[in-house]
Amino acid sequence: MKAIILCAGKGTRLRPLTYTTAKHLIPVANKPVILYTIEKIKSAGITNIGIIVSPENREDFISALGDGSQHGVKLTYILQEEPKGLAHAVLMAKDFLGDEDFMMYLGDNLIMDDIRPFVKEFEEKKDLSALIMLSPVQDPSRFGIAVMEGNRIVKTIEKPKEPPSNLAIIGLYLFRKDIFEGIANIKPSWRGELEITDAIDWLIQNKGTVEGHIIYGWWKDTGKPEDLIEANHKILDDIIEEFKIEGTVEASSVIQGRVSIGKNSEVVNSVIRGPVIIGDNCTISNAYIGPYTSIGNGVMIENCEIENSIVMDEVKISNLSFRIDSSLIGKKVEIVENDGKPKGVQIIVGDLSKVVVSR
Ligand code: G1P
Repeated sequence: MKAIILCAGKGTRLRPLTYTTAKHLIPVANKPVILYTIEKIKSAGITNIGIIVSPENREDFISALGDGSQHGVKLTYILQEEPKGLAHAVLMAKDFLGDEDFMMYLGDNLIMDDIRPFVKEFEEKKDLSALIMLSPVQDPSRFGIAVMEGNRIVKTIEKPKEPPSNLAIIGLYLFRKDIFEGIANIKPSWRGELEITDAIDWLIQNKGTVEGHIIYGWWKDTGKPEDLIEANHKILDDIIEEFKIEGTVEASSVIQGRVSIGKNSEVVNSVIRGPVIIGDNCTISNAYIGPYTSIGNGVMIENCEIENSIVMDEVKISNLSFRIDSSLIGKKVEIVENDGKPKGVQIIVGDLSKVVVSR
C-alpha cells in the first residue's frame, strides 16, 4: 500500500506564519506537524509516500524532508498547481499511485489513535472501495459528515448546514483504485473545489462499498493558531515522559516536572515548570518558563515570563513586565521592553500579525 499526504493548502488562517513556512512545517513540541503524520503512516507499515505540494511550498518541503531517508521513508513530491480540491489532489497523484490501494492523509491533521487496526480492517475487507476514519464532533457543519447504518456509510456530505449526523470525516481515508471512477463522476462544489466527500458519496450511491471506522481519541485539524497551541499542549503531555537535560542548568535554577533541555542550552537563575521542551543553543536567564511551552533552537529569553506557547527558532524575548501566554511566535522575532523615551510601544509586525495586550 502507498500513502499520499495532502499539503498543498495555503494555510490562510495561520498567516503571517504561513508567508514563510508551509503550515505543515510549523513545529509542535519542536517537531514539524508533518513528521507526526509521516511517523503515523510508517507505524502502519507504509513507507512509499507521495507528498502533494503547491508551487509556493514545494521547495520548503524538499529542504525540510529531502527524500525521506532520514525518517525511514521514501518521499515523492507531487505538484498540485492550483487549489482545486482534495479530489483534484488525488487526481494529480494518479501516476504515483497506479492501481494500488492507498492511504490518503490530510497533512495538517494530528491523530493520536493507533491507526494499525484501521489499515488491517481495510486489508481484511476486500469488498470495500473505501474505509473512512470518523469521529463524533460538537460542530459537524464545519466538516465532511457521514451517515451510517451499521458499519456501512450510506451518505457523505461536505459541510452540511443542517448536519444529519455528528460523525465527522477527520482526514484519514483508505481507498482502492475505484475512487478514480468516483472522482471522474463529480463536479466542482459551491466552493469551486472537487470534493473527495462527493467522490466517496458517488461510490456509496453507485457501489455501496464504503464503511466508516470511528475513533474516540484526541485528534485535531491544526488550521488555526489556537489549534496549534492545543496540539502543543496535548503532545507535550504525551511525549515528554521524563527529564532529558543535555544542556546546563546553573544551581540557582529550579526545574519542576517533565522538562527537556537540548544541547548547549543554558538555564540561569530561572524557574522551568514542565511539561516544557527547550531546543539546542538557547539561553534562558532570570525567566519563568511555564507549562506547555515549546522553545525552538537558538532562542534567548531573559527577564521575562512565558507559558502555554510555541516559540520558534532564534527568537529573542527580554525584560518584559507582562507574562506571554498562549502565543505563537515565529522565527527570529524580537520582543523587548526597555527604558527608552518617549514611553510607548513600537510595533514592527508583518501583514496579518496579531498583537493582544490584556491589562
Ligand atoms: C476537509 C474535508 C472535510 C474534512 C476536513 C477534516 O475540509 O473537505 O471533509 O472533514 O478536511 O479536517 P477543509 O479543511 O478543506 O475545510
